[in-house]
Amino acid sequence: MKVGIIGAGQLGRMLALAGYPLGIEPLFLDRTADTPGGQVGPIITGDFADSAKAIELAERVDIVTFDWENVPSATLAQLPAHKVRPCARALEISQDRVSEKALFRALGIPTPDFAEVDSRADLERAVAAIGLPAVLKTRRLGYDGKGQAVLRKAADIEPGWRKLAGNPLVLEAFVPFEREVSLIGVRGTDGAIAFYPLTENVHTGGILRYSRAPYRSPALQRLAERHVRRVLGNLEYVGVLALEFFVVRGRLLANEMAPRVHNSGHWTIEGAATSQFENHLRAICGFELGATRARGPCAMINFIGNLPQLAGALHEPDLHFHDYGKSPRPGRKLGHCTLLAPSATSRDARLTRLLRKFRREGAEL
Ligand SMILES: Nc1ncnc2c1ncn2[C@@H]1O[C@H](COP(=O)(O)OP(=O)(O)O)[C@@H](O)[C@H]1O
Ligand SMILES: [Mg+2]
Repeated sequence: MKVGIIGAGQLGRMLALAGYPLGIEPLFLDRTADTPGGQVGPIITGDFADSAKAIELAERVDIVTFDWENVPSATLAQLPAHKVRPCARALEISQDRVSEKALFRALGIPTPDFAEVDSRADLERAVAAIGLPAVLKTRRLGYDGKGQAVLRKAADIEPGWRKLAGNPLVLEAFVPFEREVSLIGVRGTDGAIAFYPLTENVHTGGILRYSRAPYRSPALQRLAERHVRRVLGNLEYVGVLALEFFVVRGRLLANEMAPRVHNSGHWTIEGAATSQFENHLRAICGFELGATRARGPCAMINFIGNLPQLAGALHEPDLHFHDYGKSPRPGRKLGHCTLLAPSATSRDARLTRLLRKFRREGAEL
């Protein structure tokens, strides 16, 4: 099988690496060759808006998938629908925070209160309806907390508006969450569905810093599975999909979805029977899905801004490093590590110790 991957970032790279043992050959499309994906597989260079390049990619592979969901609709429309997995509709919905939340609501999945904001007057109305604190976000193209302003008090409204005006916006109620969790589900071409254990995610400044899995709450696991199952079924989805939730007073509020492999599932490379990357490929290639159980308590730490020293860390038992081959830049995800431990207590103790060590070495954590 040949799989075309639109976007050659770290997600594409890890997809390609998971594909080789199965005999699945990758072919990337991205703007430049020196990308995390381009370093490990062949690449067509071109803009995502250049549909001729996307068509060329589709012609040279069996299936087209994505490591980035913001491929322009005009490009998606040029691709043969039967080769595109997940489908263009899943991408288009997830490109817009409002249509995403509208889908969740239509499927009975609770979300924070939200209102569309296209003008200063809309913003006043939205604040009156939702109250403060609230989060003003661009509807499109936000990631790692970019394109967001937290409005804590009335005096924050004008600066928030000035920061983001000019884009279609959405105002969301600020959720005083107890924790954030995500659920990764995968659906095959035959409609078979599998779920990974819930993952607990810790963000600072809007960027995922570390995750722990499994998050052991049978009730929340069941509830999250019910929600994700509805989304997968409604979209007749094929591949891996991640849903991010806020946990508030034992309830789940859906924040956003990603129609692709997800940072909160990186622990599955070493920590689950089958990684999210392999399962995404199995699903889109029409193979059987692999088991999704965790091998034990796991944690994942993102390396943001700079990579820690390998020397002095590699002796740790069951610690695994992933370097994405990117040049360092503040706020940039450069790699991650996964940690497996015999018990949740020892996992948490090692996580605390490693976070402290990496911070001492200058990691942004
Ligand atoms: N409505 C909200 N209430 C509280 N925290 C929020 C809210 N929206 C976002 N955040 C925080 O910011 C992080 C990033 O926001 P998110 O909507 O997931 O955007 P993205 O991941 O696309 O940048 C969230 O994981 C959460 O920690
Ligand atoms: Mg997010």
